[in-house]
This record gives sequence, C-alpha cells and structure tokens, in this order.
Amino acid sequence: MHHPPVEKLVTERFRSLNASDCPPEIYSWLVEPSSMTARLSAHCQKLEVAVLREGFITYQDFTPDERHAWGEGDNQRRFWLREVQLVAEGEPWLVGRTVIPETTLQGPEAALMALGNRPLGHHLFQSTSLSRDYLTAGTVCGLWARRSMLRLSQKPLLLTEIFLPASPLYSLSAKGPSLCNP
Ligand code: PHB
Repeated sequence: MHHPPVEKLVTERFRSLNASDCPPEIYSWLVEPSSMTARLSAHCQKLEVAVLREGFITYQDFTPDERHAWGEGDNQRRFWLREVQLVAEGEPWLVGRTVIPETTLQGPEAALMALGNRPLGHHLFQSTSLSRDYLTAGTVCGLWARRSMLRLSQKPLLLTEIFLPASPLYSLSAKGPSLCNP
C-alpha cells in the first residue's frame, strides 16, 4: 500500500467520518479515549517514538485544516510543532502531528517541548487536568486518521494522528479506505 511521503501526508486534507461510514472494529481504534501508544503496544514487541520535526512555527506554516481549527489569529503568534512516527520493529505505524500554542507551554506544560523520544501520551495521561474539546475520526489521503483538540489545565493543543498501512488497523477489516495517488 503506497502513500505520500510523511512531509506531504501531514499537510493533506482531513476528511471526517461518522461511525456509520467505518467498520466498527476500526471506529473503536479511531475514537480510543485512552493512550494510542498503549493500544498499539499490545500488538508488537517494541514501539518507539522517532521525532521527525520539533520547533516553533507560526500561522503561515499551518496546513489549511489547522488554520480552520485555530481560526484567524495574530500572525506573530508562535506554536510548538511536534511531528513523530511511532515505529514498531522498524515499521512506521503512525504519524503524529501536534500543534501547541506558545501560551499553552507555560507552567508544567513547558515539558511538552522536552519530550524527545518519550511519547506525548505519557505527559497527557498522567495529567489530572486533561480534557478534550473534540475527537474526530476521519481519513487523510485514504488512510485512517483522527484529530483531537485536547486541553491541559484548560489550555489547548491539537493532535492529528494518521495510521500508516503497516499498523494493525488495516488487517482488521478487508474494507479499508481507498488511497489517493501520492
Ligand atoms: C508523540 O509522542 O508525539 C505521539 C505519540 C503517540 C501518538 C501521537 C503522538 O499516538
């Protein structure tokens, strides 16, 4: 199964879907309320985080979807971008892209800039202040995906996760989403 290179994939349009558009065994993955790292770990010996990109960006660097999610804003505002792959025994299973407004990074959330190879979920799910505005199931370029607007102590961050063809989701159902041309 071919897909566009990761740098392109993360900029492709997110198409949301409803439970009725998706096999139930897949939907349960897409709306998993707890740690995706933990759920994927149950399907392999070793799951590692490989950081692809980390650093500050501005509104100009947003994908069209992110502009929509964050709305028009001050062009000077900075956001911390973290792009990772979850790799199971050498095979990339998931791409994660997190966009965090600089104002979210105050206090204990400054640790989000220093995660390195530790999964984001470790910080999120040990926090007592985690809440979620929405969690949307969907596809990106024909791959299963999901997008969540999370909050830590009321401060927002946007997480997009794209499941790559080697991940266990694609062996659960014969009816996968159709892939677009790379
Ligand atoms: C991350 O560490 O940034 C990360 C890990 C697992 C995910 C998404 C993001 O599912």
